[in-house]
Amino acid sequence: MSEQSLPRTLIIGLASLVVVGVTAIVWLLVNRPASEGTQSKTAAMQSLIGGPFSLVDHNGQPVTETTYHGRKTLIYFGFTYCPDVCPMSLTIMTEALNRLGDGAQDVVPLFITVDPERDTPDILRDYVTAFHPALVGLTGELEAVQDAAKAYRVYFAKIPDPDVPGAYTMDHSSLYFLMDEEGKYLAHFNHATTPSAMADQLRAYL
Ligand code: NI
Repeated sequence: MSEQSLPRTLIIGLASLVVVGVTAIVWLLVNRPASEGTQSKTAAMQSLIGGPFSLVDHNGQPVTETTYHGRKTLIYFGFTYCPDVCPMSLTIMTEALNRLGDGAQDVVPLFITVDPERDTPDILRDYVTAFHPALVGLTGELEAVQDAAKAYRVYFAKIPDPDVPGAYTMDHSSLYFLMDEEGKYLAHFNHATTPSAMADQLRAYL
C-alpha cells in the first residue's frame, strides 16, 4: 500500500457517504406526504395568483374583485376574436359547469378580455352568453386589463398581422383559475383539462 492509497480510499469512502446522504435527502423531499406538498404549493400559489382589479362587466357596470366576494369565481382570460383556443376553453368551462348542475350556482364564471380595444361590453355580452348564461365578460381600459392580467400572472401580447395593415391577433396564456369566496387562489386548470376532469375538481371545492 503506497503512502497515497490510504487517503485516497478515505476520500472515496467520504465521497460515497456524501452521495448516499444527498440521495437520501432528495428521496425524502420527493416522497414527502402528498398533502404536505399540496398544502405548501397552494400556499405559494395563493401569494402569487389573484389580487385587486377594476374593470367593467358586460352590462357596462364597474366591478372590482370585491364584487364577487362571497362566491367562488372561475376565471379565464382570452378574447372574443380568438379563432380556436378561447372558444374551446369556454366550451370546456361550459360543459364542466353543466355537469355540476345546481352546484354551478356557487361559482361565478368570468371571462376577462385581453383585447379591450375590440372587446366592448356589448361584444363581450353577445359572445359569453352564447356559451353559458351565467358567464360574465369583463373588459376595461387597457391599463386596467394589464393590471388584472398581472395579478393573475397571465401573459398576453398584441401580435400584428404582417399581411394586413392594422389587423392583429392576441397571444395569451390559457389557464382557468378557481378562486375562493375572498378571491384567494384555490386551483387552476390548463386548457387540456377535459370537462369531466374539471367538473370533478370543481365539485371537490364547491
Ligand atoms: Ni384565445
